[in-house]
Amino acid sequence: MFKQARWNEPLLLELSDNICSNVENIPEGFPKELYREKLSLPNVKEPRVIRHFVRLSQMNFGVDLGTYPLGSCTMKYNPKLADRIVSNKKIRDVHPLQPIDTVQGVLQILYELSQYLAEVTGTSKTSLIPAAGAHGELVGALMIRAAIKDKGEVSTRKEIIIPDSAHGTNPASASMAGFKVVKIPSDENGLVDVEALKSIVGNTTAGIMLTVPNTLGIFEKDILEVVKTVKDVGGYAYYDGANLNALLGKARPGDMGFDIIHLNLHKTFATPHGGGGPGAGPVCVSNDMAEFIPVPTVEFDGKKYYLNYSVPKSIGHVKGFYGNVSVLIRAYVYIRLLGASGLKEAAERAVLNSNYLLSLLNRDFYEVPYGDRVPRKHEFVVKISNKLIERGASTKDLAKALLDYGVHAPTVYFPLIVEEALMVEPTETESFDEIERYAKVLNEVAEKAYEDPERIRKTPYNTSVGRIDEVKASHPKTLCVNWSRIRKSG
Ligand SMILES: Cc1ncc(COP(=O)(O)O)c(C=O)c1O
Repeated sequence: MFKQARWNEPLLLELSDNICSNVENIPEGFPKELYREKLSLPNVKEPRVIRHFVRLSQMNFGVDLGTYPLGSCTMKYNPKLADRIVSNKKIRDVHPLQPIDTVQGVLQILYELSQYLAEVTGTSKTSLIPAAGAHGELVGALMIRAAIKDKGEVSTRKEIIIPDSAHGTNPASASMAGFKVVKIPSDENGLVDVEALKSIVGNTTAGIMLTVPNTLGIFEKDILEVVKTVKDVGGYAYYDGANLNALLGKARPGDMGFDIIHLNLHKTFATPHGGGGPGAGPVCVSNDMAEFIPVPTVEFDGKKYYLNYSVPKSIGHVKGFYGNVSVLIRAYVYIRLLGASGLKEAAERAVLNSNYLLSLLNRDFYEVPYGDRVPRKHEFVVKISNKLIERGASTKDLAKALLDYGVHAPTVYFPLIVEEALMVEPTETESFDEIERYAKVLNEVAEKAYEDPERIRKTPYNTSVGRIDEVKASHPKTLCVNWSRIRKSG
């Protein structure tokens, strides 16, 4: 069984408070209480420093360490080549305020990336600026609003329809853009109920936002009818394409009639994800929507690349400068590395891995909500069985127990439409061996939970920290990163 690094001989960086009370030569205007006569810097030998930081790094978990099948997050392996390329000083040292003539190379990359993304989504124009998926959604919803305003319908078309199987950010984004969210329930197969949709669309409908595949990992088989139903009443169709790794090279949202698609480059195109770091949520739009795109866009006049700020009906600026360029370039490298056939293969492998893992699970412990009749794509959702719940075990217990095996738990308690949910996305970069090992571990923790629910409730046993107070842990005011304070508070 996996044993994580324990805190051993901690490096105490205690700085004595050498505040100077009686010092001459304090520069005028400098607050006296902040002045230090001499700094008491720790005097620690190199091996101790190295061991301290290596030990710290071992207390964490990441995609470079093991399987990390967080459903909805696509925590796949990011090729190191992309990091190496963005660390090249020709890219790393470029400043957004440099004269355009001196950044032609970077602009060429951004321009070509825009074209590639338009190509894979079947659209005409791309904005690379949004900094995350949810930001892309907000930009898309604002573009729908601008288009409706342009038609003089802003006072009537106030509703955005969103299925209950959508990603949680969809209703938040629509609401931030000033729309009323109308929720439609999924049918017994986890799909949009087309008859229910037909009964609620009308001249108050601004559009629909569809997460595809949805949060159950299911592709909407009636997608063409869904899009047509909304467009027939004058609404717009928005495609949350954060899960495009299930469809790359197989099907294009633009061909299905969608007006706006956002992508999560930090999911689909293997750029770093998580930890609150920079992301990229480009928005790809149809011809009709192109006139509302945020500025600036990256253009090419046949000789030179340039930034275009004159888009008369643009929704305007949505972020400083041109997006998170280092993330965009990593995505560009990933696309160039794989090529069209590689991207398609990535999608096939993502779907295969997810279905393979699902097929290996013990159905006595893991049930598939919304039935097995509809195939799953790149991710799937299971719920723990009543057999386990009656023994007093919960999804949380199983997730914690997994950590003792040196793997990360799947996403838990999401989507909200499934109680005691585990949302699993193995991703395309896991090998079959890893998938088999993960399935074995999932089955083993369920068996152990059934045999000895008392023990599982105290897991994990082998990690640096055990169960934490999750409310406190995510509350910034109580965040404490200072060793001496941790020590004092015990
Ligand atoms: C389907 C879907 N939509 C939207 C988002 C939001 O993206 P972000 O976290 O970059 O804001 C995610 C995030 O994982 C997602 O999975």
